[in-house]
Amino acid sequence: MKIITIIGARPQFIKAAVISRNINQNHNIQEILLHTGQHYDHNINDIFFDELNIPAPKYNLNIGSDTHGAQTAKMLVGIENILLNEKPDYVLVYGDTNSTLAGALAAVKLHIPVAHVEAGLRSFNRKMPEELNRIITDSISELLFAPTMTAVTQLEKEDRKDATHFTGDVMYDSVLYYKNQILSQKSSSLPFYCPSEYYLATIHRAENTDDPILLKKIFSTLNELEIPVLFPLHPRTKQKIKSYNIIPGSNLIITEPVGYLHLLELILKSQKVITDSGGVQKEAYFLDTPCVTIREETEWIETLDGNHNILCGTDSNRIKQALLISPNLNVNKNCFGDGHAGEKIIQLLTDKLIKNLNVL
Ligand code: UD1
Ligand code: UDP
Repeated sequence: MKIITIIGARPQFIKAAVISRNINQNHNIQEILLHTGQHYDHNINDIFFDELNIPAPKYNLNIGSDTHGAQTAKMLVGIENILLNEKPDYVLVYGDTNSTLAGALAAVKLHIPVAHVEAGLRSFNRKMPEELNRIITDSISELLFAPTMTAVTQLEKEDRKDATHFTGDVMYDSVLYYKNQILSQKSSSLPFYCPSEYYLATIHRAENTDDPILLKKIFSTLNELEIPVLFPLHPRTKQKIKSYNIIPGSNLIITEPVGYLHLLELILKSQKVITDSGGVQKEAYFLDTPCVTIREETEWIETLDGNHNILCGTDSNRIKQALLISPNLNVNKNCFGDGHAGEKIIQLLTDKLIKNLNVL
């Protein structure tokens, strides 16, 4: 049975690593990786393949950056060509990026069934490109792997109950897989100076970075905090601060994006996390580090339990007030599954593939 897995952006490499590891233990499935090339800089691309032992993609479309329409269109053409040649039994897509949408759309038009890992997430903010990508991908996928019961309920509301399976979150599997390795390190291998007390910040969402006034406000708020802010800069944010002439203040320690294991180490050691990233909100939750989210909504509402994660938008006072709150960190993490989402997904996929082949 042949599966083509379509990936292209940083969060998808981490999710795909969990599934590829499980597929390697199941000899009934042949997996082919197709990389769209959406992310291409070493620190947000190759580093993950090396570190997480992800097999080299058989195909890389090298699409690179562009406007939404142009980028997605180029992906569609490239993916369609490969699907026509490879004729897989299933296409597997992850999350909510333009690579997810292009992969699902190219496949479904060729009548190749699609499985969506991380289905059913909603921010209910249709101005986010990710929200549109999720809604469309969920509506055209045959198998929907939901990471939380909130996602299951949402898919039921959208009449997709028959396609939906609660699996837990592969990002939770991943954190559990690497956590002990990081905790047992004798010394840190971070490639830069890390103060003993700091907040870790990651900001990259279009709604925060594409408005110069908002982005300036975020940078000046971080500069006013009482302890240093370590800030691995996403290339989108790097490009924006350059074009808006924002000079980070002296309270900010700006670094290149870090690899996954360093990122988990930085979350574990930080006083608090300040982020607009979906993945980083959850990692802070899984690793018992309080989080302040620079957005007005989150798809991961479970993380808000006990003020573990606090939504602040971009308002400076709200951010500073939220950083003073001591959350209850002893909340139940089972809502993200039991750490075996990867195995469950492979089992469900195998069952479905056998069923589909028997029908033919
Ligand atoms: C994309 C996803 C977003 C996800 C994020 C993860 C979409 C619509 N957005 O956002 O959901 O949270 O990835 O990190 O798919 N750039 C580089 N080098 C690279 C890649 C990008 O310099 O290797 C710069 C380019 O200037 C590019 C900009 O970053 O225009 C944005 O990249 P893009 O892939 O379009 O979106 P992300 O912001 O990375
Ligand atoms: N990440 C990383 N290094 C960084 C920032 C993030 O390894 O410097 C990892 C982290 O595990 C996170 C994942 O990349 O969960 C995806 O994060 P990103 O913020 O890019 O995307 P999102 O989850 O918001 O789609």
